[in-house]
Amino acid sequence: MKVFIIGAGPGDPRLLTLRAAELISSCPVVLYTGSLVPRDAIAMARADARVIDSSGMTLDEIIAVIVEARDADQDVARVHTGDPLIFGSTAEQMRRMDQLGIGYEVVPGVSSFSAAAAVLRRELTLPELSQTVILTRAEGRTPMPDGEKLRDLARHHATMVLFLSITLLREVCEALIPEYGADCPVAVVHKAACPDQNIVRGTLGDILVRVREAGIKSQSIIIVGRTLTANDFADSRLYAPDFSHRFRKAKIKAG
Ligand SMILES: C[S@@+](CC[C@H](N)C(=O)[O-])C[C@H]1O[C@@H](n2cnc3c(N)ncnc32)[C@H](O)[C@@H]1O
Repeated sequence: MKVFIIGAGPGDPRLLTLRAAELISSCPVVLYTGSLVPRDAIAMARADARVIDSSGMTLDEIIAVIVEARDADQDVARVHTGDPLIFGSTAEQMRRMDQLGIGYEVVPGVSSFSAAAAVLRRELTLPELSQTVILTRAEGRTPMPDGEKLRDLARHHATMVLFLSITLLREVCEALIPEYGADCPVAVVHKAACPDQNIVRGTLGDILVRVREAGIKSQSIIIVGRTLTANDFADSRLYAPDFSHRFRKAKIKAG
């Protein structure tokens, strides 16, 4: 018996990995985070599978379902949204399973931040502009560790992706404007890769008004940084004609 901690991707079932689809459609127990996991993904469960929505359950109750499956020698597909290891609350489940001696495997998924960048058609790392992506959140009920307040992270001027922060957009903008500037581009992607996806673009100075006008209040990725609009970035060295690497010899001499 094994528990498979599976990333179900951002919403479009076609973005499930082959491994995720195989496991969801074969495990006798499917325990999924009902608030976010796409229904179509769960619809592929076996007709006789026990399919349970964990959105109203406590950690103890989730573990109780897993222990019951262990006692019945049944594999469990534990299905999370996006990638299970990014803001997934999966570490605490893995810790309990370690304590109980229950075996598990993690199946990565397409995170909502990758899906958001894809629908925006923007590369988040551009030569000489930003070679770093910060994945973070605004401080809400979960306190931020020392050195990770948005004002601290903003000093890097890197492309910043915020999960779980749309209701704190005002605070996000106030914290970032001193470093990024009020004219810094921002994109909010609500329900990336879902049929009701909505994209709002603006700057740190005006995004709050635009998002309010759009009526977006939940399930959004916020991306901040000049990589969102820049077009004057340098070409990468990878495809430069005077650049050699393991798979290609330079076609011209470096000048
Ligand atoms: C509990 S976290 C889970 C993140 C997930 N593990 C991932 O990798 O995308 C939930 C947050 O992820 C973001 N999110 C999840 N699915 C999304 C989607 N389809 N579009 C936009 N944001 C999404 C939102 O910021 C939401 O508040």
